[in-house]
Amino acid sequence: MSETAIPGYRMGDSSLPASTVTAKDFANLKSALLLGEADIALLREARAIVGPHVEELLDVWYGFVGSHDFLLASFSTPAGPDGDYLARVRMRFGQWVRDILAADFSPEWLAYQAEVGRRHVVTKNETDGVHGAPPVVPFQFMIALIYPIYATIRPFLDSGARDAAHAEAMHQAWLKAVLLNMALWSQAYVQEGWF
Ligand code: HEM
Repeated sequence: MSETAIPGYRMGDSSLPASTVTAKDFANLKSALLLGEADIALLREARAIVGPHVEELLDVWYGFVGSHDFLLASFSTPAGPDGDYLARVRMRFGQWVRDILAADFSPEWLAYQAEVGRRHVVTKNETDGVHGAPPVVPFQFMIALIYPIYATIRPFLDSGARDAAHAEAMHQAWLKAVLLNMALWSQAYVQEGWF
């Protein structure tokens, strides 16, 4: 599916506010994560392996969310789980995987990550016109979900890696990239001046 066909996907949309994260801030964040050029290269190698399997990966993650009522609650209205909402977010989630593995951490990418953070807490439900779902994804689960998002990609990496060391290196790069996103998204959750 082309990026422009994904409802609500706004990477590169010039009407989005620019990220307040300066180039220096971003360099510091990458340094704090020990995320360097080698990791960026590894993410791009992982892209070739995981890219053709993004839908299978999403099946795993959606299965995980769907089997935990306290997670599914974020996608539910009083009428129950909202299938349209789940489906629309799933398309953007898949694009997020492709974007993170492309590791093009451009100003447009930073601006969109600020937007994705807001969508979990400040403007939740608005993009998809959902009514009656909770207004916030609880922050505790944002942090907790990092682990399954990290752990469950491993079999996909194993399937295409040159050897175990290559799989492990790509896996560590993936963890750093997910943490990078979460660090950026957390800006929407914390009081101004605390980020
Ligand atoms: C590591 C943790 C997480 C990652 C990587 C992640 C990733 C994403 C991505 C990529 C999107 C789509 C962003 C876009 O609009 O382009 C999204 C949206 C969303 N996520 Fe998460 N997420 C995480 C944690 C959670 C948790 C714990 C929940 C709770 C079940 C959750 C619920 C949602 C919801 C409801 C949306 C749609 C928000 C809206 O209304 O726009 N997410 N997430």
